[in-house]
Amino acid sequence: MKKCAIVGVGGRHKMFRESLVKKYAVNHRLVAICDSNPGRLRYAEQSLNKSNVSVACYLEKDFHKLLRVEKPDILIVTSPDYTHHKYIIAGAKKGCQIISEKPITSSLVYLKKIVTELNKVQTIATITHNYRYSPYRSQVKELLMSGTIGTVKAITFDWHLDRVHGADYFRRWHRYKSNSGGLAVHKATHHFDLINWWIADTPVSAYATGDNHYYNPINAKRLGIDNRGQRCKTCLSENCSFRLKLEAMDNLQKLYSDNEHYDGYHRDQCVFDGSIEIEDMIRAEVRYSRGAVLNYGLVAFSPWEGYEITFIGTEGTLSQKYLERSVINGDDSSLREGSNVQTSLLIPGKATERIKNPSSAGGHGGADPLMLNHIFADDGFPDPLQRKSNHFSAAWSAITGFAINRSMEKGKVVLIKDLIEDLAIPNELRLN
Ligand SMILES: NC(=O)c1ccc[n+]([C@@H]2O[C@H](COP(=O)([O-])OP(=O)(O)OC[C@H]3O[C@@H](n4cnc5c(N)ncnc54)[C@H](O)[C@@H]3O)[C@@H](O)[C@H]2O)c1
Repeated sequence: MKKCAIVGVGGRHKMFRESLVKKYAVNHRLVAICDSNPGRLRYAEQSLNKSNVSVACYLEKDFHKLLRVEKPDILIVTSPDYTHHKYIIAGAKKGCQIISEKPITSSLVYLKKIVTELNKVQTIATITHNYRYSPYRSQVKELLMSGTIGTVKAITFDWHLDRVHGADYFRRWHRYKSNSGGLAVHKATHHFDLINWWIADTPVSAYATGDNHYYNPINAKRLGIDNRGQRCKTCLSENCSFRLKLEAMDNLQKLYSDNEHYDGYHRDQCVFDGSIEIEDMIRAEVRYSRGAVLNYGLVAFSPWEGYEITFIGTEGTLSQKYLERSVINGDDSSLREGSNVQTSLLIPGKATERIKNPSSAGGHGGADPLMLNHIFADDGFPDPLQRKSNHFSAAWSAITGFAINRSMEKGKVVLIKDLIEDLAIPNELRLN
């Protein structure tokens, strides 16, 4: 029986919590939870009590006591990105198996600390890059591995966040670069991880431009949104389609609104606020060690949610278009289901082949349940696609985001070797 603890009991932790006390309860026991907010801690505890599970609760300041007293075998980190490093490092030093949410961290300085400290204690952390597990994306991996399109030379990849999901990053802690690294790190770490894993390669340079085109005060005026408040709750504007009514969504009310007086975390801050630091549109060119070039775009105010990708190989092209249903993070009523995907293969001299798509059910296009199974089911779970992501894989995806941030700031190409040296390359990012 493995003893588990979770730190950061906000929107995302619930998936891990429920898995541990239900499906994987046979060989796991959730012994403790930790958060900086006493109200959110109590809300998680009450939810557990309803399932007849009792756990020890620790505030952030008592985290080291948690490690000492509860001695968890597994530490799950689901706190905000800028806090990951301290929990990953402290837990690893105490001998815990670390399972942390993506991105591995929000800054290059913290990334280097994590890699150095984990090297010292000779441990490997799992970073939950769940997107690899989506059946559609695994299908792309299989097709590329089969060699059907030859060697990948170029990739165009456009990720669209719509005005429901995309806007949500501008309401919360993500809006400041120091908290999330911006969308180039916080969101695109998923995308760069997919690319690294799909083509089994690592980036060598990045050039990028980015700006905040939509979520700013000037655009609010252009849209005729006047009398804005700092948050939706106190906003006097009568015609803002971005208004988030926390009180209308049970989980958002109980998780955030009811506990905001403890820490001032307002879940419904104005998406047009002038203090927002992160970009809502990024265009980048990333070059890889074996010569492939990625042209990447991220937009957070799109009319649709999903992605389009084309791999141009020496023997043909592979394309996938994925239409996603949008979601408000932490709102249980809008879990993603029923998305739509089209995959096609074009080989010179042959008709376009529409590839039959695998079925998927569960969060993030069917990715979450498969990933949880991989993490918590018995050891020895077969992994021919090498989907399990460790802290080196996660570092290689975050580093592209850090390079993009630096490139946007300096207006020039950034070499990865100028950011970090001697970063180990995990097996799945090498051509075997
Ligand atoms: N893989 C995915 O698809 C996915 C989806 C959503 C979130 N995430 C990740 O999960 C993590 C949590 O995101 P979320 O959406 O649940 O955020 P959230 O804001 O809903 O919850 C964060 C929780 O951490 C607590 N917290 C804040 N500072 C803390 C500290 N110093 N120590 C301990 N607890 C602290 C907050 O009180 C809150 O309960 C992030 O790293 C995010 O990137 C991943």
